[in-house]
Amino acid sequence: MDATLIRTINKLQDAFSTVGVHNPVDLPQIVVIGSQSSGKSSVLENIVGRDFLPRGSGIVTRRPLVLQLINRPNANLNGDDADKDKEKAETRAEAEGEKKEPEEWGEFLHQPGVKYTDFNLIREEIVRDTEAKTGKNAGISPLPINLRIYSPHVLTLTLVDLPGLTKLPVGDQPKDIEKQIRDMIVKYITKPNAIILAVTAANVDLANSDGLRLARDVDPEGARTIGVLTKVDLMDTGTDVVDILAGRVIPLRLGYVPVVNRGQRDIDTKKTISRSLEGERQFFENHTAYKSKAQYCGTPYLARKLNMILMHHIRNTLPEIKAKIQAALAKYIAELATLGDGMAEGAGQASIVLNIITEFCTEFRTIIDGNSTDLSSF
Ligand code: GDP
Ligand code: NA
Ligand code: MG
Repeated sequence: MDATLIRTINKLQDAFSTVGVHNPVDLPQIVVIGSQSSGKSSVLENIVGRDFLPRGSGIVTRRPLVLQLINRPNANLNGDDADKDKEKAETRAEAEGEKKEPEEWGEFLHQPGVKYTDFNLIREEIVRDTEAKTGKNAGISPLPINLRIYSPHVLTLTLVDLPGLTKLPVGDQPKDIEKQIRDMIVKYITKPNAIILAVTAANVDLANSDGLRLARDVDPEGARTIGVLTKVDLMDTGTDVVDILAGRVIPLRLGYVPVVNRGQRDIDTKKTISRSLEGERQFFENHTAYKSKAQYCGTPYLARKLNMILMHHIRNTLPEIKAKIQAALAKYIAELATLGDGMAEGAGQASIVLNIITEFCTEFRTIIDGNSTDLSSF
């Protein structure tokens, strides 16, 4: 996730909390949809940059996973000089023999207070709780698993991983499995606040993409759908996705991003995310069809595109927030006139926040204008 964006949003959130407004900007939920085994969980994991989701061939994701990322400044640090302070804090902690706060951890809604610092254990718990609620067989359930990840490196925002679309029931699956999964997906992507990542494997025909078809049903204008093409590394030699990227097959307003995730062998041999991202970079930079446009390929570009959409969203929300604060300020002033002294502090804080928001509007415009060429990729 983009560090500038995280910093800017944190400043905004801090400013608001001084006047008692929490989470003023309702950030969009990012929802991944597509056929079974198209690579949805892999894409999500790469965006978060941590290994923690069950992935694999067959129906692995069998309940919605609502993943709330929560930005939390490192509690072991104070002040701006982070590295020095970290060293100091560590020495102090060692000297005093105190237990350090973890920098990042996960917590499930169904296990309040249990902090997972080992992300492998998070994956095991997702598998365990999925089986507990749906059985070991291929059953699915709309009952979501709620997981929060606290970290200084994430944006406070929600991502949703969903079971993939399937046609034929397997094992004990009910006859209407296709409809059940479809209904589950539609529930999440209908929200106007959802950004849809429609995932399609590059080695199948785009015209048959279940994800794109569903996305089009709820977002016919394509205003909030990004196409993600996975498994580009598995295409037959001599074939590529250049026509799709250029909008010559099924055009999407926000375009498509080709990615290369870890294959099953990489998962089995525990290839790390950073090595996988390096491999992905090399793949696009060395491939004859992609090398001239390599900066518009791969997971980092997908993350940048998401950041851009989030910034546009925040910028569009700011006038509304500003109006709310202005109204609150007017109310404070009116009450102040009738009640006297007690309200002065509130009014002062509200006007400070107004100034800050005005500054943010300018700052966002600068960031967005500086990046806007990014959106017209291929
Ligand atoms: P989901 O069912 O859509 O969530 O898909 P998963 O993320 O579980 O991936 C399904 C399988 O496809 C796993 O074995 C992954 O390793 C593999 N896979 C996903 N993306 C890619 C990719 O870009 N390239 C390759 N070679 N394999 C991939
Ligand atoms: Na899968
Ligand atoms: Mg999955």
